[in-house]
Amino acid sequence: MSDTKRIVLSSDHAAIDLRQAVAIHVAAKGYEVVDIGPTTPESTHYPLHGKAAAERVASGDCDLGIILCGTGQGIMMAANKVPGIRCGVCSDTFSAAMIRAHNNANLLSIGARVVGEGLALAIVDAYLDAEFEGGRHGTRVDMIEG
Ligand code: RB5
Repeated sequence: MSDTKRIVLSSDHAAIDLRQAVAIHVAAKGYEVVDIGPTTPESTHYPLHGKAAAERVASGDCDLGIILCGTGQGIMMAANKVPGIRCGVCSDTFSAAMIRAHNNANLLSIGARVVGEGLALAIVDAYLDAEFEGGRHGTRVDMIEG
């Protein structure tokens, strides 16, 4: 494992079960999990949860984050509004590794209504096990930040 230690997790109501499975999986890999909910199944608003997780990472309180909603798209859009956040939705393991290796994504988003638990956990593994390659990719990431 790299220096990454603390992973923030959040979701909306559509992804509570998968978020809890991800939490167990990530903890078993040796990371400290900061699960900021929600814990009850009432309908909620994904922008709130994307923003809250993104702020944990942007502030330096957490190293990386994994966020989930039905498609992964809405919560990703909300997270990316927070300065310094680079979040991508992944439904395959190749993209999950590459958003870390090439884009230095500090948040991963997953759609709980898109992928099953087995694939979701493999996506999490691919993301967490990858490392940013820097070099020309660093130049490009700097260009994203403006
Ligand atoms: C909630 O029904 C759903 O819209 C949300 O989880 C997500 O898919 C939005 O992008």
